Order: sequence, then C-alpha cells, then structure tokens
Amino acid sequence: MNQPTILGIESTCDETAAAIVQGNTLLSNVVSSSMNEHARYGGVIPEIASRAHAEAFVPCVQQALADAGLELSDVDAIAVSAGPGLAGCLAVGVSGAKALAWAAHKPIYGINHVIGHIAVTQLQFGAFPPDTLALIVSGGHTSLLHVEDVARHIDVVGTTLDDAAGECFDKVARLLGFPYPGGPHIDRHAQQGNPHAIRVPQGLTQGKAGREHPYDFSFSGVKTAVARWIEEQQAEGRAIPVDDVCASLADSVASVLARKAMHGCEQYGSKTLIVGGGFSANSQLRAKLLEEGERCGVEVRIPQIKLCTDNGAMVAMLGVNLVEAGVKPSDPDFPIDSAMP
Ligand code: KG4
Ligand code: ZN
Repeated sequence: MNQPTILGIESTCDETAAAIVQGNTLLSNVVSSSMNEHARYGGVIPEIASRAHAEAFVPCVQQALADAGLELSDVDAIAVSAGPGLAGCLAVGVSGAKALAWAAHKPIYGINHVIGHIAVTQLQFGAFPPDTLALIVSGGHTSLLHVEDVARHIDVVGTTLDDAAGECFDKVARLLGFPYPGGPHIDRHAQQGNPHAIRVPQGLTQGKAGREHPYDFSFSGVKTAVARWIEEQQAEGRAIPVDDVCASLADSVASVLARKAMHGCEQYGSKTLIVGGGFSANSQLRAKLLEEGERCGVEVRIPQIKLCTDNGAMVAMLGVNLVEAGVKPSDPDFPIDSAMP
C-alpha cells in the first residue's frame, strides 16, 4: 500500500467529525459541533453531546466521503478516537466506526486523540524532524511530549497536575460572565488590556517535588488567584477591569507554557516544537511561542486553527502513520478508554 487512504472519525467531546487523508494530503474534513447547545449550561453536558454525535455521525461520514469523491469501499482503513474523552461520546463514535469497518470489511484503529493533535501537523508542515517536542493544550489536556516515533513511541515530558489551560480560561470566563467556551472571549478582551495590571501567579514554575523534571503545569491556583482578586474588587464595590484581568491571565498562562516548552526543547536538543489542541488558537500563546522560539532557535509549528481544534483529519493522519509503520489494527472488540493516558 503506497499512500494509505484513511477515514478518520472523532467524537471525544462536542465535535462530531470525519475526514479523509491520503498519504499526507487532506481530501476532506467535516466537523459538526454541538457547542452552541452547551453554551447556556456553562460547559459540555455529556448527554447532550452524545445525542448530538448519534445524530451527526452518519451525515458527517457521508459528507467526508462525498467531498473526497470516494466510497467507503475505497478507503484502506478506518481510524477512530478511542480516548481520552467523554465515555458516552466516545461510545457513539467508536460503535459507529466499528459498524462501518465490519460492514465494509476494513481494518480499524482505535487511536489516542491527544496523539492525533500531534500527528495533524504533518498535513501542514510535513514529517517530524528527530527529537521533536509537542505542546498539546486544550480544554482537557496540557501536555509536553517528546515525539520519538509518532506511531510507536511518545514520552510524556510534563503534564498538568490539575486543570488544563483551556479549562482555566473557561472557568475564569464564567466568572466574568462569558458564555462557554470562554477561552476565545478572554483572548479577544486580552488584546485590549494591560498584561501587567494584575499579579497572576504562574502555574507551577518549579515543578512538583518528587518528580524529577520541572515541566509540569498547574493552572487551578491561577484560576483561584484571579477568582479571589475579582471577589475582593466586588466586595469593595469596584468595577472589574475585564480587559486587564483577561490580559494578565493570558500573559501568565502563555508565558509559563512558552517558557517550559522552550526549556524542554533545550533539554531534548529539539529544534522543532509542534503545537496543537484547541487552546493553541490563543493569540497570546501563539505570539509568545513564536517570540520565544525565535529567541531560542526553535522552529514553532502551529497549524491553522481548523486543524488545532478537534477534527477528523488528526485521527485520519495518525491512522496513516500507523498503517505506514505496519502497526497491527485494533481487535474488533477494542474498548473505549475515557482516561487513556
Ligand atoms: O481541543 P479543543 O477543541 O477541545 C478539547 O479537547 O478540549 O479545545 C477547546 C478549548 C476550550 O477550553 C476553549 O476555551 C479553548 O480551547 N480555546 C481558547 C481559544 N480558542 C479555543 N482558549 C483561549 N483562546 C482562544 N482563542
Ligand atoms: Zn482535543
């Protein structure tokens, strides 16, 4: 098989997505989001998201095949996110993908969604140089990873010990009265604020005692510090300088992420940093990473926004990597794993 053609299916959270990748060419990429249905609850409601996946699954797959000008029989294999994510959501996508694989006699790969966020960068920037580091930041994960071989060997360099960066933004956004997901609202307001107006602690700058490396993150204290500051202002009857709060929070989170990522690159002798996950749409983080990358001689590869947020292309691209590496397909009864490491 020269250039494998893979159907990728994604349903870990509130996006139902299907895409076709051939080699490292994206043939189609269809995303249906239930995000608006969750906005009034202030976060993703798993039951609502699962039902939306059940409704959107078949139309998404049909559209992805049609856009690529293919039939299901033309694909070489199906890849589907098997975790981490919301169990009910994963169950819909994985069951649907298994049904397609069974009906069309195709091999199936249950893949790790987070590694998909790394793999997707190949669509835009090509293959990984040796010793690539990856910073994956989203509403659910904040991880620094060493990519030895995307199909077989990835090491965790650091991770968040509590909240993910996106989760921290979403929680502060809620305090400020923005609808879910609040990250983009904070981003927009931060662009008009003073990043030094408020002292926001930087998430776990030293690393946790007992772990041998200083690349872990912690954002729950950051959120608490901002929440406390807002409460104090309210108690004293002062108006909240929303733009300044957003700018100070964004500066703190972007700085710690960029600094630790560059430290990691130094330690691993990495000249390339891959960035992925929905939070990598954040302007302050993108600017900080590019600035720090320039200073440290590291090429920072941040994909276009539609490839940063959850999509099927990331799943299909990792599927291509697995097929090309000769990795055995998953067993037909492979489980979902909502806490997949
Ligand atoms: O990867 P993703 O689409 O879904 C998860 O797997 O979590 O990431 C969504 C997260 C949310 O927390 C959202 O607020 C955040 O990414 N986000 C942003 C921006 N765009 C999305 N956070 C800050 N600034 C943004 N521009
Ligand atoms: Zn994601």
